[in-house]
Amino acid sequence: SPKQSEDLRSPICCIMGHVDTGKTKLLDCIRGTNVQEGEAGGITQQIGATYFPAANIRERTKELKADATLKVPGLLVIDTPGHESFTNLRSRGSGLCDIAILVVDIMHGLEPQTIESLNLLKMRKTEFIIALNKVDRLYDWKARRNSPIGMTLKKQTKDVLSEFNRRVTYVITQFKEQGLNTELYYKNKEMGETFSIVPTSAVTGEGIPDLLLLLVQWTQKTMVEKLTFSDEVQCTVLEVKVIEGLGTTIDVVLVNGVLHEGDQIVGPIVTTIRALLTPHPMKEIRVKGAYMQHKEIKAAQGIKIAAQGLEHAIAGTSIYVVGPDDDLEDIKEAAKED
Ligand code: GTP
Ligand code: MG
Ligand code: NA
Repeated sequence: SPKQSEDLRSPICCIMGHVDTGKTKLLDCIRGTNVQEGEAGGITQQIGATYFPAANIRERTKELKADATLKVPGLLVIDTPGHESFTNLRSRGSGLCDIAILVVDIMHGLEPQTIESLNLLKMRKTEFIIALNKVDRLYDWKARRNSPIGMTLKKQTKDVLSEFNRRVTYVITQFKEQGLNTELYYKNKEMGETFSIVPTSAVTGEGIPDLLLLLVQWTQKTMVEKLTFSDEVQCTVLEVKVIEGLGTTIDVVLVNGVLHEGDQIVGPIVTTIRALLTPHPMKEIRVKGAYMQHKEIKAAQGIKIAAQGLEHAIAGTSIYVVGPDDDLEDIKEAAKED
């Protein structure tokens, strides 16, 4: 297996876009889960986090014959709601990530929260890849399950291809109106200036290998400095939740550093980590399930923390760790400024 660089952390990828474009379904397709079908009204109402180990990404991209290029330990993917009332959660998600996937429904083109998401990404100068989803809905589409997109396009009729091209051209024009150059990723010769579009289907899995490979390649190529592991803990609270048997817990994203059981942490409150839990790899943290318990966890990860007093924690704020040489009062001051 390819050698992993010791000091690269997993990139954090936020998935954003208008309501019902298929963000959660795309993640379900990669995870082999059914989170979307369990959502009230089919609407995501919380930020989620899922860890994809490198081995799974390698497996999923092997038809593209590029497995040797994986240098990061995995990928941490943050799911966000597309419903208009959750702007704060989209903002929080986009603030945590190294790269984003902006999902657009090929049958609808750009929609209000596509543009809102785009503006959040522009504001933070976050790199992103466009997933042009639901290609299976093109009339007379012939699905080839989990196929790289190039191979499946070769199997389509002239009529399907012409409809596909017409819709892609329309979306490219819509992005241009937003001041953005975009192009199908396999035609894009100037990544960085021109944003890449990956056609996908969350129902058939088509284009998913391309999307995963592009994500990993792009982050490894352009973000080595940002992805170089640092000891300084950078950790944000996603949700404050009561869990039977654990009391009030917090779901956090650990962006950098290491957390240990027993660490003294400071948010709005000072407390000690009683348990460090994660869902199993490829499982969504926001869905109740079995947890793995850890003595320590290295970034990047989505983690559930159990400790006394967490009912006072606040979603969106940072968590600080008190090190042996740190002054508790200084850290409490820093936490107050959040
Ligand atoms: P919010 O999180 O609520 O913003 O929605 P979302 O973007 O996560 O979309 P979701 O995964 O909930 O999918 C919305 C609907 O579109 C569901 O009924 C999915 O089954 C359907 N859907 C998603 N992706 C695809 C796709 O690629 N093809 C088809 N045919 N249907 C899809
Ligand atoms: Mg969703
Ligand atoms: Na939805």
